[in-house]
Amino acid sequence: MAQQSDLFKKLISHCKEYGFIFQSSEVYDGLSAVYDYGPYGIELKNNIKQYWWRSMVQMHENIVGLDAAIFMHPKTWKASGHVDAFNDPLVDNKDSKKRYRADVLIEDYMDKIEKKINKEIEKAGKRFGESFDEAKFRETNPRVLANQEKFDTVKNRLAKAMSDGDMAELKTMIEELEIACPESGSRNWTEVRQFNLMFSTQLGNIAGAEGKLYLRPETAQGIFVNFLNVQRSTRQKIPFGIAQIGKAFRNEIVARQFIFRMREFEQMEMQFFVQPGSEMTWYNYWKKARLAWHTSLGTAAEKLRFHDHDNLAHYANAAVDIQFEFPFGFKELEGIHSRTDFDLSSHQELSGKKLQYFDPELGENYVPYVVETSIGCDRMFLALMSLALREETVPDAKGKDSSRVVLKLPPAIAPVKCAVLPLLKNKEALTSKARAIFDRLKLSFNCQYDEKDAIGRRYRRQDAIGTPYCVTIDFDTLEDDTVTIRERDSLKQERISIDQVEAIVRERTNMSTLLQNITDQINIPESVGS
Ligand code: GAP
Repeated sequence: MAQQSDLFKKLISHCKEYGFIFQSSEVYDGLSAVYDYGPYGIELKNNIKQYWWRSMVQMHENIVGLDAAIFMHPKTWKASGHVDAFNDPLVDNKDSKKRYRADVLIEDYMDKIEKKINKEIEKAGKRFGESFDEAKFRETNPRVLANQEKFDTVKNRLAKAMSDGDMAELKTMIEELEIACPESGSRNWTEVRQFNLMFSTQLGNIAGAEGKLYLRPETAQGIFVNFLNVQRSTRQKIPFGIAQIGKAFRNEIVARQFIFRMREFEQMEMQFFVQPGSEMTWYNYWKKARLAWHTSLGTAAEKLRFHDHDNLAHYANAAVDIQFEFPFGFKELEGIHSRTDFDLSSHQELSGKKLQYFDPELGENYVPYVVETSIGCDRMFLALMSLALREETVPDAKGKDSSRVVLKLPPAIAPVKCAVLPLLKNKEALTSKARAIFDRLKLSFNCQYDEKDAIGRRYRRQDAIGTPYCVTIDFDTLEDDTVTIRERDSLKQERISIDQVEAIVRERTNMSTLLQNITDQINIPESVGS
């Protein structure tokens, strides 16, 4: 765990040092849980979005895109339930004046119990070696059993209090479990109260409550209210989906873990409209498809897991998270929800406008059911960066051990695809040749030309931003029009002709290969189209 938190600190400082992510308004000491993406960050983020978009819209004939506005009619949020129920339980510590989410304080308490159990198991594992039977140990060891019982009791109580919206019970739990403020150690808590997470603002031309607007807390509602516009204008038949990428805003009480929990973030959401009764088939299909999307990027299966929701939201009849093992443990990366007809029916009721589909197969009108996939682009960014960042010892030009920091990002989504490096800066013949190659390649890829510093240092700089290929122009190039192409991960250097560079980089950094990998893993049903 210490190693993991060390990795996390390194990741945060790497993101800043190499221009991936900066704290927002840093000159004013920053704005908490708001971040800016720097030159390499925005390239990586755009590539993640492009990969998601292509896998949804380009790969499925029955999925089309949308870019709805951030501002929506305030009634939208009444119908969706966000005005009344998009709350987190808030508690203040009277001594430190710090604010916390009551459920997170209790979850942190549960994490400590879980750590005790894991420590016990780890110790026993070392003691018994190969013959260790973890399942049996969990069933028989009195300390593990006692802690497990404590854990389960707290978990069940928390789940019930949350689903009942019972703030008094949360306060009682905090008191009974003797949870102290992590900042001050004090147990002097206020009452627990509901805190709505939506940011609000005011329309310029309407004063008072009438002009109150919200910054959308999810992109999904823009899809729901446009359901018929999209269906009619594109003549889609059910089942079909609408995909959207856009900003969402939540006034998170606990904002920590870098870009994991932000107040302004980006979502990539897809709502898939289906015949009522067929939603579980599609729910299972999208679980499989989304897992395949993650593994197609090279994410090892052990780093991902499904986590079924213990308590379903009022609108859902099934919900699962795809969790990823971040440096601070397994946490939600993406949600897949079977949202029934809740949203469309609510908008239909409040607006008085029909949001129904005439199904030519059944010969009847109905409000479709919806299966949603929803992933945070920033969380995906964090997941990929935490997988990619490595410190390695590799041989230098003279064969001696040297250390390097490298971002082993999938080449197709790396910010820069290829760097063009003349061996020496002050040899015009080399630099003009390199410039000519760069000018050709930049028409096809995001490339970099770099002539500053020794070649070894330039390679290291490219490694640190994850550039998969470096092309070096040396004196042989002037003789025979060949260059060396260096591969970031293997460090292998090949001599190739200048004419081959573009095709080689294109082939090895191509998103199509990743998309093919998804199709190889799942059977895209004909009704979705591939
Ligand atoms: N439309 C469904 C929805 O919004 P959600 O589970 O609240 O569901 C979906 O959010 C995804 O959005 C999450 O899995 C996560 O990746 C991302 N997300 C949610 N809140 C976030 C935050 N405060 N900061 C960054 N990403 C967030």
